[in-house]
Amino acid sequence: MSTRARGAAKTAAIGGVVRVSFDGRPLEASPGQSVGAALTSQGITAWRATRKGERPRGLFCGIGVCFDCLLTVDGSANQRACLVEVREGMEIEGSCREDPSEETGGRA
Ligand code: FES
Repeated sequence: MSTRARGAAKTAAIGGVVRVSFDGRPLEASPGQSVGAALTSQGITAWRATRKGERPRGLFCGIGVCFDCLLTVDGSANQRACLVEVREGMEIEGSCREDPSEETGGRA
């Protein structure tokens, strides 16, 4: 997204609220919040599961180190929720792949 488009998206936030969707469900967030903070503030603490054991994962380190918070943002898979800032109209999807090589059978 260009700087101009990003600025327009921020301007579109009405009354200090950024409207996003999570798995098709509308959510409101505060401008400047990370996706992870926005989800957690709405009571959503896990948005994917591990391949082994299906253990729930969400925010852990909160600083971009552990990769536990991966999700899909506007169609872009494996984004770290703790590092991505919410934008007006953003479409967030949980349950993204833990490992990008899964889709290619380990050949990625
Ligand atoms: S919570 Fe650890 S990378 Fe996002």
